[in-house]
Amino acid sequence: MQFAENHHPIIFPGKHLEDWAHWFENHSFTSVFVLVDSETSEHCLPLVAHLPGFNQAITLKMPSGERYKNLETAKNIWEELLLHGADRKSLLIGLGGGVVTDMAGFIGSTFKRGISTLHFPTSLMGMVDASIGGKTGVDLNSAKNQIGTFYQPEGVFVYSKFLETLPDLEIQSGFAEMLKYGFVGNPNFLKTLENHKDFKVREEDLVFSAHFKKKIVSQDPFEKGIRAILNFGHTAGHALEAFYLDHKMPTTHGFCVALGMMVALDLSKNIGLSDDEYEMGMRILNQKFPFPKFSEIDLPEIASYLKYDKKNESGKLKFVLLKSIGDPVWNHEISSAEVVNAMRRVWL
Ligand SMILES: NC(=O)c1ccc[n+]([C@@H]2O[C@H](COP(=O)([O-])OP(=O)(O)OC[C@H]3O[C@@H](n4cnc5c(N)ncnc54)[C@H](O)[C@@H]3O)[C@@H](O)[C@H]2O)c1
Repeated sequence: MQFAENHHPIIFPGKHLEDWAHWFENHSFTSVFVLVDSETSEHCLPLVAHLPGFNQAITLKMPSGERYKNLETAKNIWEELLLHGADRKSLLIGLGGGVVTDMAGFIGSTFKRGISTLHFPTSLMGMVDASIGGKTGVDLNSAKNQIGTFYQPEGVFVYSKFLETLPDLEIQSGFAEMLKYGFVGNPNFLKTLENHKDFKVREEDLVFSAHFKKKIVSQDPFEKGIRAILNFGHTAGHALEAFYLDHKMPTTHGFCVALGMMVALDLSKNIGLSDDEYEMGMRILNQKFPFPKFSEIDLPEIASYLKYDKKNESGKLKFVLLKSIGDPVWNHEISSAEVVNAMRRVWL
């Protein structure tokens, strides 16, 4: 069992779950609720249903998918909690991908002004990123994560066996966030990931990624500074994701972030990213995330979603860029026209 710095432990049970039983038996809750979606209810809940805590829990179920990460779903779950007598000493467990853990965090942080939450991430995205760091939230129409809170879970149990049923596209999606850690923090990790022939994820990749995120978040829990580097690729990526959502086209968060990282790499050349590093980054992203080319007419529409980015200040876009791989700068002001030009260079 490993505990990271401050009160928010990241725990890696590996292939067994005794650590969870130990943790649960050392805590006291009046009742336990597990939030799942339709997929994790089928594929993941049976793997843990016999364990302490889960064997007495009331299951709350939401539909699967980003388009249900909204206030309506939150209201349904708040109502169910109330109906089942949840009180301030109840525990809400998020058992799912980033959508479920973002929802569980948001619901837990607001219900009766805050009850204990804890996550069992089941997607790669959840294990290496979404469940760690205490950002919770829901989307507002197609604008991502507009309503939310900072609220640390009691813990995060990363049980890699869940990945066995995760669809390949979702593994690819989580891989994008692992690559991001390489770009902003560790060139060697980036090279290690490049050498993975497929998207096979090893336990040590999970450990490195989760601890990297935890380390940055511990330094800056409320994103006043360095935590912003974790948004590398997300400014253009979120705009693209909103575009796909509005057009009801299937996509994944990580795929959009990967294409957003291409845009950020292009813009980084203006602040000193070398041609060699740019080409290495683009090679890795193009290899792992082949994509159909966009058409010129899509670009202004995609760019129109940039205005919703939460890092914007006084209507100005703020980007995370790289002086070199592993050396990010944040809050770099970029005009929308420059972003469209970069999209044109890397996406058309
Ligand atoms: N809070 C944060 O810091 C943070 C960071 C990154 C991403 N996010 C959020 O996370 C979300 C994306 O997370 P995601 O990619 O996990 O999406 P997701 O939760 O929608 O999961 C992807 C799909 O996989 C299914 N699934 C999950 N685990 C499974 C398993 N073990 N077996 C079979 N199917 C499984 C889900 O039902 C869903 O259909 C976005 O909403 C994003 O904004 C939040």
